[in-house]
Amino acid sequence: EKESQNILENKRTIKELFVSEPDRLSRMTFKVDDFFLDFSKNIISRKIQELLNALAINNNVLKQAQRMFAGETINITENRSVLHIALRNVSYSKKKGFKSLGEISVNKQDVMPEVVNTLNRMADFSDKIRKGKWRGTTGKKITDIVNIGIGGSDLGPKMIYRALLSFAASNINVHFVSNVDGTDIAETLSNLNPETTLFIVASKTFTTQETMTNALSAKKWFLKRFKQKDIAKHFVAASTAENLVTDFGIDAENMFPFWDWVGGRYSSPSAIGLPIMIALGKENYAKLLEGYQKMDNHFRSTPVESNLPIQLALIGIWYNNFLNAQSYAILPYAQSLEHFAAYFQQGDMESNGKSINLKGEVVDYQTGPIVWGEPGTNGQHAFYQLIHQGTKLIPCDFIGFIQSNYPLSDHHDKLMANFFAQPEALMNGLSQEELIKQNCPKELLPFKEFKGNIPTNSILINKLNPQSLGSLIALYEHKIFTQGIIWQINSFDQYGVELGKVLAKSVLEDINSGKVNTKKHDPSTANLIELFIKNK
Ligand code: F6P
Repeated sequence: EKESQNILENKRTIKELFVSEPDRLSRMTFKVDDFFLDFSKNIISRKIQELLNALAINNNVLKQAQRMFAGETINITENRSVLHIALRNVSYSKKKGFKSLGEISVNKQDVMPEVVNTLNRMADFSDKIRKGKWRGTTGKKITDIVNIGIGGSDLGPKMIYRALLSFAASNINVHFVSNVDGTDIAETLSNLNPETTLFIVASKTFTTQETMTNALSAKKWFLKRFKQKDIAKHFVAASTAENLVTDFGIDAENMFPFWDWVGGRYSSPSAIGLPIMIALGKENYAKLLEGYQKMDNHFRSTPVESNLPIQLALIGIWYNNFLNAQSYAILPYAQSLEHFAAYFQQGDMESNGKSINLKGEVVDYQTGPIVWGEPGTNGQHAFYQLIHQGTKLIPCDFIGFIQSNYPLSDHHDKLMANFFAQPEALMNGLSQEELIKQNCPKELLPFKEFKGNIPTNSILINKLNPQSLGSLIALYEHKIFTQGIIWQINSFDQYGVELGKVLAKSVLEDINSGKVNTKKHDPSTANLIELFIKNK
């Protein structure tokens, strides 16, 4: 308590900790494969670090991880296992394709044969599209893939496709349609030719209103030119619901399954990854899975003190629960990771935005933080002002790469100069004494002063490629898992977002009938709906 009091009172700043703890760098930096993580610029002393490690040990984080890896029913409110780790428990060779690395069972049934079978079917299908063997109904090659999905059935493939665009085939474009706003599908389809377009309807449940509405509009658009029988060549699905897929008119043969033990926001390495495999090819996809798997192995087998996801989780808990930070920013210094923060906005906030513990009681402590961010350096010219000089504590994760996928003159050096300079400035600040030395006019001193002591993590990776991206995603996934364990909440249900699906249906009934049912709504909402009905 005394230690955290000192920190709260600013008596022990990061700068001071570097002086009083000469072993700080060796204690708080980690090198695993081509990842270098520097956690030393945190307001965390040796004592606090020890206490945080004890928190993870006392909460049996590693034991709980073993329960997840063993397929136990840890998603207790939905009575499900949580096995996204099974999706990457595979090896790949040119000769033998994808193979299981060992049994993982749910209710005594090994799930791996189905995982491997689906991966090999996806590989076969992707090959056909990439090599132009799968042709549209008029015999033309597929040039455009449209992924129709939302949430976990959109954000993952969209983020990964964008991140690895430099590895993607140049003859196939992938588009992502998610919003029920007709603008999304209309603008996407306006530039496409149905003869050369393949739709992937991606939905775990195959009931999500946005996705089904967009899929029906896509079908209508396609049927303006072609017949029902032509659909087989142009519509495939990634889903857990075979009946609904076939009801929609998609052949069961063209459905790539996944299972209820894959949460939507953890589903990008499942059949939901089909557009990524088509774009990148099966070999690159295998490397992506290998990257996930490396971090999975690190997470399950490394002691708490040097376990990267656990350390990242503990740092987050320190700011969230002890220093009252409301949010944290993910700041990738890579334009390719422009959707990374949005992806983990769902990953983190849908997982840990809970206020009821595993026993069904209301918690009396803070749980999941607000997650936000944009790539640097763009963010620097937008919201960094508030991080540097605002009234809120915002811990930041800086993610950067040593080598660029586009080594264009000195762009990368300039980008990385900012990557190094910002965390340094956030920690050091700029004092009034320093400003005086720089001849700053006296009246401007308080305005130009930076208090500093703003914590950052630096995640420096050799290169952005399929393998490192897989590891980076798994790093954050297991961080979220660890925090959920310590907060004693179920990170794997999402009743909070499911409510929205029901609410909109009831309003839609009113809109369709052209009359507001005033008994159902409060006066403000009833008035707003009426205004819409009258003027639409
Ligand atoms: O918004 C709630 C949610 O269930 C997310 O968890 C999920 O990723 C998304 O909807 C999409 O669901 P589905 O894949 O079933 O269409």
